[in-house]
Amino acid sequence: MIINNQTAIPQFILLGLPILPEQQQMFYALFLAMYLTTVLGNLIIIILIRLDSHLHTPMYLFLSNLSFSDLCFSSVTMPKLLQNIQSQDPSISYAGCLTQMYFFMVFANTENVLLVVMAYDRYVAICFPLHYTSIMSPKLCVSLVVLTWVFTVLYSMLHTLLLARLSFCEDNVITHFFCDISALLKLACSDTYINELMIFILGTLDTVVPFLLIVVSYVQIVCSILKFSTKQGIAKVFSTCGSHLSVVSLFYGTIIGVYLCPSANNSTVKEIVMALMYTVVTPMLNPFIYSLRNRDIKEALIRVLCKKQIPL
Ligand SMILES: *[C@@H]1O[C@H](CO)[C@@H](O)[C@H](O)[C@H]1NC(C)=O
Repeated sequence: MIINNQTAIPQFILLGLPILPEQQQMFYALFLAMYLTTVLGNLIIIILIRLDSHLHTPMYLFLSNLSFSDLCFSSVTMPKLLQNIQSQDPSISYAGCLTQMYFFMVFANTENVLLVVMAYDRYVAICFPLHYTSIMSPKLCVSLVVLTWVFTVLYSMLHTLLLARLSFCEDNVITHFFCDISALLKLACSDTYINELMIFILGTLDTVVPFLLIVVSYVQIVCSILKFSTKQGIAKVFSTCGSHLSVVSLFYGTIIGVYLCPSANNSTVKEIVMALMYTVVTPMLNPFIYSLRNRDIKEALIRVLCKKQIPL
């Protein structure tokens, strides 16, 4: 019997997390709780910003976009992971796998680019406070958001199309809990040189350029504080930039952890743990980082809740 290699693999096996069968229930409960927290936390931020007109400023509209992207980002991997922990059949179709990979890249990159947009917003707010409203006009905000999405959609499309050219052979076991591009490349039996080159070039540009832009924005911000250093000025800068800086550190801290700390042994386990950090933990923490330390959000929450109670 002759089977065409390419069509012989209609699906992949997602190996999932390296956990023991007796730990399954515990991990299921843990990840379900984390996923629900992520969905709820981000939904509250989006709804709050939509409902409260005091939060209709560029900073919060970008934050709302970030929450939306976090929500989608964890929804790309978590439901499948939860289903996999419970079921006996950890398979995923070829099309399903490529779709997951595509959306994973779209939302991960959106977060990446939005963090730059938010840094630029803070830079303008602090260094040009008098011109802030004219520079960050609604038109510019919408353009920045649209550009972010267009860029990430094209970027992810390119990687996905390059991957779709490859053929896959007998080995269809993905040693990961989602269809990660590098895990898939390991399974390909055609030449992956172009793919790896593009991942290296675009991936480096896509991490280093945003990171540098954020650093440059913050250097400008610090210079401007040093120039007009008053106690209130510094406190104000910390209150508006603190949350953004925490999210940036969490995001790039994980990326730097993944790439700059090579481990000789057990790299699969390390890869999975790091992937859990950025797919599960980061999207869950972002809304809390923004809301717990932020007076505007707390006040908006009180306003929205109280307004709702008056008609009752
Ligand atoms: C994203 O940002 C744009 C521009 O500021 C805004 O119009 C839009 O409502 C935001 N989208 C979400 C989902 O918050």
